[in-house]
Amino acid sequence: MHRRYVHSESRTIAYFDSAPTNHAARALILIHGFPLAAAMWEAQSTALPTGWRLIAPDLRGFGGSTLADGDDPPSIDDYARDVIDLMHLLTIGSAVVGGLSMGGYVTLALLRLAPALARGAILANTRTTADTIEGRANRRAMLALIDREGPSGVARDMIPKLVGKTSREMQPDLEPFVRRLIKQQSADAIRGAVRRMMDRPDSTTTLERLTVPTLIIAGEEDDLTPVADAERMHVANPDTELVVIAGSGHLSNLEHPQVFNGAMHNFLSRL
Ligand code: MLT
Repeated sequence: MHRRYVHSESRTIAYFDSAPTNHAARALILIHGFPLAAAMWEAQSTALPTGWRLIAPDLRGFGGSTLADGDDPPSIDDYARDVIDLMHLLTIGSAVVGGLSMGGYVTLALLRLAPALARGAILANTRTTADTIEGRANRRAMLALIDREGPSGVARDMIPKLVGKTSREMQPDLEPFVRRLIKQQSADAIRGAVRRMMDRPDSTTTLERLTVPTLIIAGEEDDLTPVADAERMHVANPDTELVVIAGSGHLSNLEHPQVFNGAMHNFLSRL
């Protein structure tokens, strides 16, 4: 993956690109989860069908992307607009857009704001519903944790929820990788993401109305976005394809890259 940067107004959008000079390639845009960065998609970059190019942006404040001025009150749409800006700056007319968890929320926001830009969607370990009252209380607790302990506290709290039980036992290298990635993120970026997620709207109608091919991926051991969430999404739009990955927690693309990549490859090959 090649590291690239573009500048939009006074800020920088950083992204990885698997084929920056191949302008004829069809684009797949994958959006990272919380509180991670685009580096989580490395294992997907070499698993694309011929003629495809993966672009993975760092959302504002994460990875190499700078925060933006004047984004208060923060909205999940800010992230979607950044992805739309990136597509314009790279003169990408349409792409398959997808994301994991928070990246799925951003994908759904993009599908609502600019449906013509998406020729397909991948919704991994995510949900269309807004936060519940309990979920919002957890977000407030997370904001307090960030204030008290910064990204290290967030890593300690999140890792057992992100990496599934089987992967924690069978893949000892995964937790340190995820911990490093979280600790590289700034408290401001993480705070901004929590505030955006807690105020995001329900996107069920967006999914119901979707007419482009859509792949839903779930992890059998995912406690953050359980399989039941993915099944509800599949019921909301029965034209979607649902793949449940056995033995996977929330980070299905990192925990079971071969299965994730296989599902992604099959899906893209049919477009
Ligand atoms: C994520 O993985 O992006 C988050 O856990 C999503 C969330 O907290 O709702």
